[in-house]
Amino acid sequence: MELQAFDMVRMQCAYDGDVDYDLSGSGVPSVSLKEVMGSDDAVRTLLEVEQGYPPTNGSPELRSAIAAMYERASADHILVTNGASEANFMAAWRLFEKGDEVVIIVPNYPQTWNLAESWGMEVRPLPLKEELGWQFDPEDLKAAVTRRTKAVHVCNPNNPTGAIMASEQRKALIDAVKDSGAWLLADEVYVGAELGDSRTQSLWGHHEKTLITNGLCKAYGMPGLRIGWLVGTPETLREITCYHDYLTLTHSMLSDHIARKVLEPERRERILAKNQEVVRMSCRVFVDWNEAHGSALAHRSPEAGAMCFVRHPPGLNSSDLSERLRKERSVLVVPGDQLGMDGYMRIGTALPKEYLMSGLDKIDDLMRTLKASDPERKIDFDCSR
Ligand SMILES: Cc1ncc(COP(=O)(O)O)c(C=O)c1O
Repeated sequence: MELQAFDMVRMQCAYDGDVDYDLSGSGVPSVSLKEVMGSDDAVRTLLEVEQGYPPTNGSPELRSAIAAMYERASADHILVTNGASEANFMAAWRLFEKGDEVVIIVPNYPQTWNLAESWGMEVRPLPLKEELGWQFDPEDLKAAVTRRTKAVHVCNPNNPTGAIMASEQRKALIDAVKDSGAWLLADEVYVGAELGDSRTQSLWGHHEKTLITNGLCKAYGMPGLRIGWLVGTPETLREITCYHDYLTLTHSMLSDHIARKVLEPERRERILAKNQEVVRMSCRVFVDWNEAHGSALAHRSPEAGAMCFVRHPPGLNSSDLSERLRKERSVLVVPGDQLGMDGYMRIGTALPKEYLMSGLDKIDDLMRTLKASDPERKIDFDCSR
């Protein structure tokens, strides 16, 4: 069986060290081990950690610390994984069978979508609409979810739009999975990276057939620890553990120890608050720059995550435009069509101000060149319309 390529990841791996301005990320700057642990002495305690296998579902301490973030969850509702990627993969591997129907919101981080298509599922898109503030239309949900639907997959807060699901949509989603008996799969790696003050409520706890995926990669700024997790009923997690046994068996002992520290409530909130400040400031830099430049990029301010999903002039394909940006201006962004929606680009913003602004200047410069080379105005370069 051939898997569809994960184009975005391949592109980032191929070029991120090879451009002057890498604006292709979506998380906050990485946090150092010293910052997590608090002092050299605390870091030195890690030297004593024996490098045996941790329990394959995660140490009881780590699972309890994760469970404390979810209502009515205990350590038995948690399975620790190698990053949210492994959590997403195992959820899909356990649930998806050839011929099943799955409803997936678009645009989206395309891991689950690509796997579902590769494994012969029928994928029904549930579009997030820019004119609705990047929410889905509940009528579209009603039309998409039927008794045949095996699972509905959402990413909330959403990558790449940075939108947080509104209460009307949240209720409609929970009702839809309950009525149809479908699984609810929710990737929540951007919870904690909100620009506003309130934390996104997890979708956990409303429907038995729910699997939540999350990890320390985005809001926490620690993708290198490769700590992710699944939240599900103990029975479902027992089934998924069987898949884990074949895939990676377990995660790293050192990461398990560090993650326990990260998730001590006070430390966790301190790390998230600091990262949130970065998210807020970097978004402000982008918005100010965009306003000052009257640029050919339109966007709705994200509500979470260190990224802006911008609409570029119609008539240009987002992969073509991104390729020109890379080759002609040495700027890397993620084209919208790699995330399921052409006509847009995802621009990562959590970068040093000067670096971000210089990268944005390069984008603006290419737009001006494209506009100048289109004297007959075949392309509309005013995206604000
Ligand atoms: C929505 C989403 N889920 C999962 C991942 C992968 O997470 P991890 O690095 O923990 O495997 C990413 C990475 O960009 C993401 O954006």
